[in-house]
Amino acid sequence: MTALFTPFTLKSVTLRNRIAVPPMCQYSAIDGVTNDWHLSHYASIARGGAGLVIVEATAVTPEGRITPGCTGLWNDEQVAGMAAIAAGIKAAGAVAGIQIGHAGRKASANRPWDGNAHIPNDAPDGWQTIAPSALAFGGDLSKVPQEMTLDDIARVRQGFVDAARRALAAGFEWLELHFAHGYLAQSFLSPHSNRRDDQYGGDLDGRGRFLLETLAAVREVWPQHLPLTARMGVIEYDGRDEETLAESIELTRRMREAGLDMLNVSVNFTVPDVKIPWGPGFLAPVARRVRDEAGLPVASSWYIGDPQVANQAVAAEQIDLVMIGREHLADPHYAFRAAKELGVENPFAILPPQYGWWLERYR
Ligand code: FNR
Repeated sequence: MTALFTPFTLKSVTLRNRIAVPPMCQYSAIDGVTNDWHLSHYASIARGGAGLVIVEATAVTPEGRITPGCTGLWNDEQVAGMAAIAAGIKAAGAVAGIQIGHAGRKASANRPWDGNAHIPNDAPDGWQTIAPSALAFGGDLSKVPQEMTLDDIARVRQGFVDAARRALAAGFEWLELHFAHGYLAQSFLSPHSNRRDDQYGGDLDGRGRFLLETLAAVREVWPQHLPLTARMGVIEYDGRDEETLAESIELTRRMREAGLDMLNVSVNFTVPDVKIPWGPGFLAPVARRVRDEAGLPVASSWYIGDPQVANQAVAAEQIDLVMIGREHLADPHYAFRAAKELGVENPFAILPPQYGWWLERYR
């Protein structure tokens, strides 16, 4: 059997194959509330055949949005739209997942197609950002965040817990905590962005505390039988990679002990000037190392969209679940295409019969 098309079980959830759609912001919500765009977008991608579809980075507090167009689960009014999205994904035979997070010092930015840069605090749609330390990211994201107080930390942690509860109520069965990409949690972990001298800074115990505490608090409300995962950058490509990787693996072990079921291995993106070795499957060996040394299943993405590359990463046991992002934007029926390319028997069965029945007969 083709490795990419073998089912994958985590806790009580079984995915029909190893293809997942990673969270991808649509920047199209108003006040965090989703609309018809999100509904049709997620349903159409799920119909393409992926095993898992993870809804975009959804903010746990209003100031945790990356842009004013980002989705949220910080209030109950936001649940109904998400419930419709989850139902649409499930009706297409995929498992419905969602990523919840807080953008920290990278929040309050313009949509990418509006320039990506920070929105000034005094503009109508801008806001004051918060972060572990009052240090700006740099480049276009040059606003200096307010250093979080202990109350802020407790409030955001509670935001994660409440958003997890709402995600469950909306019908999601797979929860991913956004601990990656230089957003709030990742910026607690990185010494580049965390200069605190209290219990949330300093050594790995301190810098990892926000992540561990948040995970443990969410695990309390997220049912044991459903997968709780996190996306975390484990490597910065800033020249001190062995140290970052070793720390990240140690923290992953601790998170596993606190109830983490899988790590979605990614890049840190905590500082702007790094040398990332972009290329097909470049992160797969790193993911494999985390899998072996932290002792839990891993997902990963970035340039593994070529079906051969994706299949090889699963077959070589580097990655348990491949996250295929931009290829799904280009072709929502990516899984069908990959199955054809890899010679899977009856690839038409991957699509709903409304499409597959015809394509099988009239080629
Ligand atoms: C992303 N990415 C992303 N990552 C994440 O953790 N949360 C998010 O909400 C988003 N949003 C997002 C929007 C868009 C439009 C893109 C293209 C990407 C990163 C994404 O999940 C994925 O890791 C990358 O796209 C790399 O995978 P591919 O595209 O090389 O398969």
